[in-house]
Amino acid sequence: MKRTRTVICVAAILSVFMLLGGQPAGAHYTPASDNPTAASYPSAHNNPTAAHYTPAVYPSPPYPDKPKDIAITFTNDTLTEKSFTWVTSGTSNSHAFVVVWEADGGVQRLFSGSTETVTGRRDYYVAPTLFNSPDNVFRFKVNRVTVTGLKPNTGYRYICGDGAAENWSGEHYFDTAIESGGFSFIYMTDPQCAVNSQFELWKKCSERAYATFPDAKFIAIAGDLVDRGSSENLWDKFFYYGDTVLSNLTVVPAVGNHETDTGSHNFSKHFSFPQTSHGLPDYVYSFDFGNLHFMVLSTEKTYAQLTSKNESIRAEANGFLDAQINWMREEVSISQKKWNVVMLHKGIYSGGGYASSAETLFYRNKLAPVFDELSIDAVLQGHNHTFDRAYLYDGKSVSGVAAESLSAAKGRGTLYLTANSAGPKFYPQSNPKPTYLLKHSQPDTQLYTGVTVTDNYMKFDTYTVTDREDGSLFDTFTVYKQ
Ligand SMILES: [Fe+2]
Repeated sequence: MKRTRTVICVAAILSVFMLLGGQPAGAHYTPASDNPTAASYPSAHNNPTAAHYTPAVYPSPPYPDKPKDIAITFTNDTLTEKSFTWVTSGTSNSHAFVVVWEADGGVQRLFSGSTETVTGRRDYYVAPTLFNSPDNVFRFKVNRVTVTGLKPNTGYRYICGDGAAENWSGEHYFDTAIESGGFSFIYMTDPQCAVNSQFELWKKCSERAYATFPDAKFIAIAGDLVDRGSSENLWDKFFYYGDTVLSNLTVVPAVGNHETDTGSHNFSKHFSFPQTSHGLPDYVYSFDFGNLHFMVLSTEKTYAQLTSKNESIRAEANGFLDAQINWMREEVSISQKKWNVVMLHKGIYSGGGYASSAETLFYRNKLAPVFDELSIDAVLQGHNHTFDRAYLYDGKSVSGVAAESLSAAKGRGTLYLTANSAGPKFYPQSNPKPTYLLKHSQPDTQLYTGVTVTDNYMKFDTYTVTDREDGSLFDTFTVYKQ
């Protein structure tokens, strides 16, 4: 993509100002998570306009304050706001800026935010005695900016940085929510990568999904984004390999056990979430998009915690789950939206190894009656690394929806979907198929789902990653509602 060099702009002026103030030199820039260069935007978004800022420069390291791990997320107001979170390796800067302008031209606007120095672990895969050693412990900066006053249903371009000319990110894209009408989004789950060859699979899956659904408005990922959430190297790689998508598309992540079961996880340091759950952790959240109300839960209290003989541990774990249930009831009661979708990591109706584990049954017994009570239209699941589809009420397939059915008329019933994995790990399927599932299989390849939301139906098209640019249709199911 060509970038036009223009003389006067907000970012250029700011860069000069910052340079005059002096930018201290820092530690070495990590090459593996460097260079958000080569913006290979999907064609639908490849509408370069006159960029009014000084073109981004990608000089050689060290540039520790250059943005990496950029995540675009929703705020409470999806129509007119957007949040940006990124990481810098250096810890000296104390400025975070985002410059935005409408994709088809328009005035640049500068927004400032906050920075926070965070302690992390470079790598999980070290001897336990070395995990907290000085070589493995390091400090980095989390940068957050919320952009406000945007126009609904409008495409924007942005750059982020600390104001120094050499530290601006590449130019990327985002758009704001629609007020009404149809749209689509991408759902996938469990990339859970650990090494570069696995991250290549995540890269391919996310880019295939975006190529298949170039007009998608956000990408929802149902947990286990990385193999070990306490390893910052893996977060760097998750964002680096997913950069084509994650720098241009709003991400909606759920927390999974691989983000939480290794201690000192920094899941929330990589995303800025809508503040909608009133005292619950920030990764329990919701948002409205068009005629959809979308709720993200945490299933990361373990069965051992939920049934602990230690009363305080048991009470805390059950209290967290009950609070989420009450929050969901409140959310649905005040929502004016036609569709209610829930995303969680530990699927309550799945096949494979977790199909009837004690933990699955615990969550199923607690959550399924609530989903029935609230007429949740769809539950997007993870954790099980198989493909599972069910359409259930009271734990039984809804009358008239047979295994070969490709749709359901919405009366009583909830679609439960698990899209295998967007990474390397696939679990064997159950044999025989659990009776509550309409479809259960292990295609031995990554899956992604495009969800088309209209006033009258939600259509879930799941694709396998193939050598074809747009994948191959693997499963489709439509829920109709008058
Ligand atoms: Fe998991």
